Amino acid sequence: MTDSTAVEPGAPDTWWRTAAIYQVFVRSFADGDGDGNGDLPGLRSRLPYLRDLGVDALWITPFYPSPMVDSGFDVSEYCDVNPMFGRLADLDAVTEEAHRLGLRVIVDLVPNHTSDQHPWFVGALGAEPGSADRDRYHFRPGSGVDGELPPNDWESVFGGPAWTRTAGQDGTPGEWYLHLFAPQQPDLNWENPQVRADFDAIIRFWLDRGVDGLRIADAHGMAKDTSYADLDRKAQSGLLGSEPVPYFDQDDVHGILRGWRTVLDSYPTPRIAIGEAVTPTEERLARYVRPDELHQTMNFRYLSTPWSAAELRAAVGDTLAANDAVGGVSSWMLSSPDTQRVVTRLGDGEAGLLRARSAALLTLALPGSVYIYQGEELGLPEVLDLPEELLRDPVWERSGHTERGRDGARIPLPWHGDRAPFGFNTVGEDNGWLPTPESWRSLSVEQQEARSDSTLALYRAALRLRREHKALVDGDLSWDQAEEGVLVLRRSPNFLCIVNTTDEAVPIDPPRTLLLASGPLPVTPGDGTVHLPGNTAGWWLTD
Ligand code: NOJ
Repeated sequence: MTDSTAVEPGAPDTWWRTAAIYQVFVRSFADGDGDGNGDLPGLRSRLPYLRDLGVDALWITPFYPSPMVDSGFDVSEYCDVNPMFGRLADLDAVTEEAHRLGLRVIVDLVPNHTSDQHPWFVGALGAEPGSADRDRYHFRPGSGVDGELPPNDWESVFGGPAWTRTAGQDGTPGEWYLHLFAPQQPDLNWENPQVRADFDAIIRFWLDRGVDGLRIADAHGMAKDTSYADLDRKAQSGLLGSEPVPYFDQDDVHGILRGWRTVLDSYPTPRIAIGEAVTPTEERLARYVRPDELHQTMNFRYLSTPWSAAELRAAVGDTLAANDAVGGVSSWMLSSPDTQRVVTRLGDGEAGLLRARSAALLTLALPGSVYIYQGEELGLPEVLDLPEELLRDPVWERSGHTERGRDGARIPLPWHGDRAPFGFNTVGEDNGWLPTPESWRSLSVEQQEARSDSTLALYRAALRLRREHKALVDGDLSWDQAEEGVLVLRRSPNFLCIVNTTDEAVPIDPPRTLLLASGPLPVTPGDGTVHLPGNTAGWWLTD
């Protein structure tokens, strides 16, 4: 066990307000034992890489025992480590080593649903309708003449109905249970006091081991409108669907979050909670970061904004306004394992990479905290051509093979060497997990460390400057008038960021001190005019 006071003695309690938090998708980060799957010892061995990158914290996606139907978001034991990823001692070692290197550690909490293999659900299935064991989940009689139809028309985020019918040992059909995601992920009933007490204990278990915080998966879930009324909707919700629905973003969720804040605040050193919440509006999202709730949420509006100066400015402005109104911290992210990688989302190929690099400079210039999803700092693209037989995301099956899902954003990282999987593991090409493409050789950490113009070098420089310059830590933000397609952002007293989202170069009149640019800034011989090429961004110090 470790004590997070070991990190930077005397550091202010609000480190998370301006933090850069790196998301580790553990199965695809680094393989320490050579079995072809990323794991905690592999992560530990690469912690110096994260320190050198210049992030403040890492957040590790679920590493708990799990049948891995939904990449570990189907937890079958909340207070242990999946043998695929190591042992509890390995998590302690990661935390200890991270703290030694000045990095904080955040772990994922999955409270909306368990795995169908969790003893709570196994017990509930074996118990009678109306029993205390069944009350931990949402069991309901079916509709129709004989209960043969689902209790209502709610749909799973992954496709198909959100209800599955149970059967007794003799095969007699019985009640239905709710699963907003895969059938192997039954939703917990958060009106049940035992569920609440169990999660308080789970949270304490991890905080007592010294982790610095929790990322709450589906923090907009948990509370449901238990009138279970039909939705009467044609379209299905989808992972980032933000229409009002009776099972997400219900007001009652805030009571649960307040309870957790009390647990977090009962520790002598700061422990934080970050919510993955999807809501219909920024104002609804800001309710999650009111002073007695979560410390921050993830910003899917910003993540989904197209490469448009006007839309980016609006997304930033709306986010800041909503969070400022409640005194909450804003956060920014460009990618996640649930969405297409930013290089591909913004256009793929060369333009996509140029835009992603510029988007990084815009993002890292904004006030608040920032999330970097592993591989973003390498400019990795989405892998779009995975063979169908390798697809693991439940979305692929549940959509009747119409949506390929998220595997293309979850490919193992390329570290070094000439052949795939580039040092991710020592097994060779067929590692039993998603394959790293041969075409990623020039994107490996080793290759990028050798080039001063690499995306890795850009992220390292930007993260360093973001820490060094007070304007970037807590300076007020303002926008200058600019021509269409161009963003001119200032942080007081002396920082300027210009982003050209168009494909054409624009002449600019920049201050003398260039801090960093996402690409070369050509100067016209003769009159000395500086040009900001299309899809390029720069940072300057004003005098
Ligand atoms: C949130 C996670 O980020 C996502 O990957 C997962 O599929 C859903 N929870 C459902 O478990």
